[in-house]
Amino acid sequence: MKIDVILGLQWGDEGKGKIVDYLATKYDMVARFQGGPNAGHTLKFDGKKYVLHTIPSGIFREDLMNLIGNGVVIDPITLEKEIKNLEAADVKYHDRLLVAKKAHLILPTHRYLDAASEAAKGKDKIGSTLKGIGPTYMDKTGRNGLRVGDIYHESFHERYDALKAKHLELLKIYPSIEFNLEEEEEKWFNSLATLRSLKAVDGEWYINKAIKEGKRVLAEGAQGSMLDIDFGTYPFVTSSNTITAGVCTGLGVAPQLIDQVIGITKAYCTRVGGGPFPTELHGEVGEKLRKEGAEFGATTGRPRRCGWIDLPQLKYTIMINGVTQLVITKIDILNIFDSIKAGVKYQREDGSETDMLPYDVVVEDLKPIWEDIEGWGSSLEGIDTYEDLPAKAQDFISYLEKKLEVPITMISTGPERQELILRTADLAV
Ligand code: GDP
Ligand code: IMO
Ligand code: MG
Repeated sequence: MKIDVILGLQWGDEGKGKIVDYLATKYDMVARFQGGPNAGHTLKFDGKKYVLHTIPSGIFREDLMNLIGNGVVIDPITLEKEIKNLEAADVKYHDRLLVAKKAHLILPTHRYLDAASEAAKGKDKIGSTLKGIGPTYMDKTGRNGLRVGDIYHESFHERYDALKAKHLELLKIYPSIEFNLEEEEEKWFNSLATLRSLKAVDGEWYINKAIKEGKRVLAEGAQGSMLDIDFGTYPFVTSSNTITAGVCTGLGVAPQLIDQVIGITKAYCTRVGGGPFPTELHGEVGEKLRKEGAEFGATTGRPRRCGWIDLPQLKYTIMINGVTQLVITKIDILNIFDSIKAGVKYQREDGSETDMLPYDVVVEDLKPIWEDIEGWGSSLEGIDTYEDLPAKAQDFISYLEKKLEVPITMISTGPERQELILRTADLAV
């Protein structure tokens, strides 16, 4: 068996949680391969809403394993909160949640370093979620980090103290920020008990054995491809590889084991935090999208910046990821518009036009060149087949498919689990 991948093609919040939760029953395991508590994946079913940050979005489905892979960075305090939420919802997670021993730990001081680094950047701040993601990945690549497997070792406390001391020294070079380390440390060490109660595994061995035995595995991405550390709008990115390549390093699987790459995009576009966003709308239309789409961050509650769909941006991330099928989410948010736009090219500062994202996307002011698409102007509620969609909504899907040259296999028409139109019978669960 091979492994399928679900990931975001924009700047995050494309609806990954909903789609992973829907498809999970087709699989034996869901594995998160990167990111950490900067992610907020929302699931809605039976009228209830759940937000997951570290735990894979397959956890609410019975009979399947969920692995937090080695590429993920874990804050034990957040993980403990998520687990308490599962307990409150009476979810039997214990035998179905595994943690890779090689996953790195977010220390309280990593969060302080994140805040201090952002404060030092002033108006150029990235808009980090302040969860300690950047500093933790820096310690990973700097070969100083602490990993889940280390918490079982006698020297753990000593190594923690050494890393903390280093962080406190580093904090001196930044603008001062307020923190209460003693209190946070106590919480952190207490929360390790919950982490210890989970089964820690050699994730790479576990997953490869499962694949060899014919088990079906779904890799769940966090953030979006435009936030990828290498290919995103650097430096306004996160600190991990959010793209398909991240599956190999974040789980320990070889590239030839990857089968379907399911890329998710909203029917429009959003971004939280700073950085370029060529199709962003600042006026009334952007506000309408935010209001109708309830575009406020699932992790930080910040309002998301909104704009029309950006086709050159999507073509770029489809290429980088090797996307084999597309999912369009939140198409219902466009019900209220008589006319919809899609960015089809960029006009550069020198007047030339391009459909390739230029290197200088951060410094150059790219103006989108739009195409108009007629809206359908009616509710999509209760529609569960493609044929029953209004003709103009079908035209919009065909338009996107033609431009992006990848089949659109799923169309999400609402936040609830079942509000999904499948275009191929083999996706039915
Ligand atoms: P993720 O980070 O990619 O999992 O996405 P988030 O959970 O951060 O944000 C997506 C938001 O859109 C959540 O509030 C979802 O409940 C909601 N959502 C997902 N799909 C749809 C859809 O098709 N229509 C509507 N109206 N909401 C959706
Ligand atoms: P999900 O998985 C949207 C953004 C932050 C900031 C930048 C860097 O829910 O799609 P970081 O905390 O990683 O150092 O922040 O990345 N960001 C996200 N935006 N969805 C996410 O995750 C995000 N995770 C990080 O807003 O601009
Ligand atoms: Mg999110």
